[in-house]
This record gives sequence, C-alpha cells and structure tokens, in this order.
Amino acid sequence: VGQNLLTLKEVDSTNNFLKNLLTNSKPVPEGTVIMAESQYAGRGQLNNKWHAEPGKNLTFSLLLQPHFLDVANQFDLNRAISMGVYDALRPLLGEHLKIKWPNDIYYGDKKLGGMLIENLLQGSRIKNSIVGIGININQEKFPDEAVNATSVKQILQKENNVTDILADICNNIEAWYLKLKAGKVNVVRDTYLSRLYWFNEKKRFKASDQEFTGIIAGVKDNGLLIVKHNDTESTYNLKEIEFLNK
Ligand code: BTN
Repeated sequence: VGQNLLTLKEVDSTNNFLKNLLTNSKPVPEGTVIMAESQYAGRGQLNNKWHAEPGKNLTFSLLLQPHFLDVANQFDLNRAISMGVYDALRPLLGEHLKIKWPNDIYYGDKKLGGMLIENLLQGSRIKNSIVGIGININQEKFPDEAVNATSVKQILQKENNVTDILADICNNIEAWYLKLKAGKVNVVRDTYLSRLYWFNEKKRFKASDQEFTGIIAGVKDNGLLIVKHNDTESTYNLKEIEFLNK
C-alpha cells in the first residue's frame, strides 16, 4: 500500500478521482494512493461534507481489491482499515486514541479523523474498494460547527510531518489487510472491539427521537452496533443512532 503514490494539489475529492480513474482508464494497481493537498468537495459519511484546511491535513484515498470478501462481510474491511490507522497513530498519541463506531478516529471525546469506504461490487463480491481517509494533522483552528474536532497538532502542540504519517498509515493498513486476507477475521473483530470508544460503558444515546441510557455490547458481523438498554439488545445502523456527549 502506498508504493504507487500520486499527489495532487487540488481535486474535488480523492475518492471521486480514484473512482474516475477506475472507470476511465487502464487498470489501477491495488495499493495505489491518491493524496490531495486540498479538496474542494471532500465527502464524509451520511452525505456530509469533509472540510480540511488546505495543505495542513491528510486527505487521501487508496485502492484495495478484496476479491476474497463477500458483501455480507464488507464491514471487516472497515475494521481492518480503522485498525491500521489506529496502530499508526497510537505510538504518537497514546491511550486516549479510540475507534468510534463505525470507523471514526477519536482522541478522548474529539474526532481526529474518519473514513469513507466505497465498495464497487461484482455480484456478491467486492471488486474494488475505494478507501478514503481524512486525518486532521496540522490544522489549528476549526469552524464553530465542528465543535468536537481536534488535530494531532492540537494534541501534541507541535507541527507534524504529513507524509511520514501517511507512510505509517499505509504500512499498518497493509498489515491488517493481510491479516484479513489470511482469514484471521477473529483477530480483526476482537481487536476492533478492544479499541472501541464507549465499549461496555453506560452512556447516553438517541434513537428514534428518544434519548436513553445504554451500553454498547458489541458490533454485529455485518457492522450494526449492538446497544443494550433495559436488558434488551437492539441493533442500529449509522443513520439510526446518535452518541450523546453528556
Ligand atoms: C467521515 O468521517 O465522515 C469520513 C471522512 C472521510 C474524508 C476523506 S478525505 C479523503 C477522501 N476523499 C473524500 O472526499 N473523503 C475522504
């Protein structure tokens, strides 16, 4: 991952750029990384926009071809990628680093980065997976609406080398991806759970317009979040549940 690297000054979204490459031209080798200094239409999960100050942060997409993965198990790829990012940042940032379900990177109660994984299918298998990752590295100020955003610089109080961090992330993603490919899916699932933000803690959530106290009890194989509330377990997708920080 990352041997074949293309750096762009400005692009709409690195995910779009990679998707266009795949549909328009010669085959793109697995592990190709497209990085941009600035995106003017960066995309996040749930149709959100992804804003990052130009030239300061890490915004890139990489191509994986997990032909071995069935659509039903596509969330294992999200787990493996999250862990790659986690392992790359952990030596730098320490124990406050967590993975917030489904695949946000958190430091304490603040969001450091996230990912948008777009799988292109062929039948019931994944043909191409466009893994878009955004990590706040040297940005110092965030707009008021991004109340819970943070960056590596805000945490460490020092400037960081964006390309060094990219290289660490690529190497660690590759390691976890190979574990998944080798069939070590239980290691992938167990480790993911051990790093999960709010796992097994009594917290406030909101679902179907109702606020309630619950405990994250796990994540289903297919990626749905399992929350226990009054001794009953319910499962949620990303649109269906909100974490309340209070
Ligand atoms: C999220 O937390 O909602 C996901 C954010 C993903 C942002 C990255 S930046 C590089 C890639 N290109 C995009 O347009 N989005 C992803």
